[in-house]
Amino acid sequence: MSALNPEITILRALLAASDGFVSGNVLARELGMSRVAVWQHMEKLREQGFAFEAVRARGYRLAGRPDGLNASLLTAYLPPGPDALPIFLHDQIDSTNDEASRQLSGGRPAPFVVIARQQLKGRGRFGRVWHSEANGNLYTSFAFRPRLPPGRMQTFTLWMGSNLCELIANFCRATPALKWPNDILFEGRKAGGILTEARVDADEIRDLVLGLGLNVNSAGAWPGDLVQRAISIAEHTRSAIDLNRFAAALIGRVHLAYSRFVSGAYERSFSELWNRYDMLRGQPVTVLQGDRRFSGVAAGIDDDGSLVLRGERGHTERFRAGEVTLAKT
Ligand code: BTN
Repeated sequence: MSALNPEITILRALLAASDGFVSGNVLARELGMSRVAVWQHMEKLREQGFAFEAVRARGYRLAGRPDGLNASLLTAYLPPGPDALPIFLHDQIDSTNDEASRQLSGGRPAPFVVIARQQLKGRGRFGRVWHSEANGNLYTSFAFRPRLPPGRMQTFTLWMGSNLCELIANFCRATPALKWPNDILFEGRKAGGILTEARVDADEIRDLVLGLGLNVNSAGAWPGDLVQRAISIAEHTRSAIDLNRFAAALIGRVHLAYSRFVSGAYERSFSELWNRYDMLRGQPVTVLQGDRRFSGVAAGIDDDGSLVLRGERGHTERFRAGEVTLAKT
């Protein structure tokens, strides 16, 4: 959605006004159009579910917003500028990762973001289903063409996961736990997961899709055994999160984290950020790799992002992939 879109300019002005009010004249001047034309654009916003209060001598105030994700509002929360990522918001889609990779295959210039209110075939790691009802959560995929050697990707998901945790901690004032390699938890239940999918040519990553599923606002109506395993951030904090503002902050954070990753600047803060949220360090765990099991005490990650386990005899083992469970004590 274009930053020059008049509806977004109107929303930006109303969101930025200290007392909430902006006069019709100011809006007309900012947009370079007549007050009637401004009114027509406000009408289009009303059709999307926005409501405006008009007060004589003060102007307009935002008095109501649409429920759930709204492309205009989300874009209005993002800083304007030439670096803004194109955002494609879908009501319903099979999987945002699949849509992003279809668009990449079709030649769409990257980076861009695909978001859906609902996924019909949301996917997680190991081919698992990612529960994706339209219930106030975020299903998002970022598409990139990083032109990096494939070996650089080992730390990508971990770096992005620790950035997500930092964003959640700052935005939602609640500290999540990061479970290697890609799980975000509250109260031992899963609030988020990351599915990174890359297509690789001989010595370069052709394209890369970073899929983020975050349980933001859903209110506990989890099907089946998800009741024990899943949680939303709002369930944990007991207060609803402004989904559009949060999605905009997420897009900004991921974009910045991606730039730092590609430039290599991330190396300076990676292990510190990871350690801030790592829930496994010092815990007895079991790593499952196919049908092989390893037990030991988690000792953090190494520079390559491999999980380090200290065995009973003091020796260490490193794991590039696998599924970790906390050993029952
Ligand atoms: C996992 O924990 O196994 C990863 C879950 C990733 C889910 C997200 S939701 C948005 C994107 N689209 C998908 O189909 N999957 C990812």
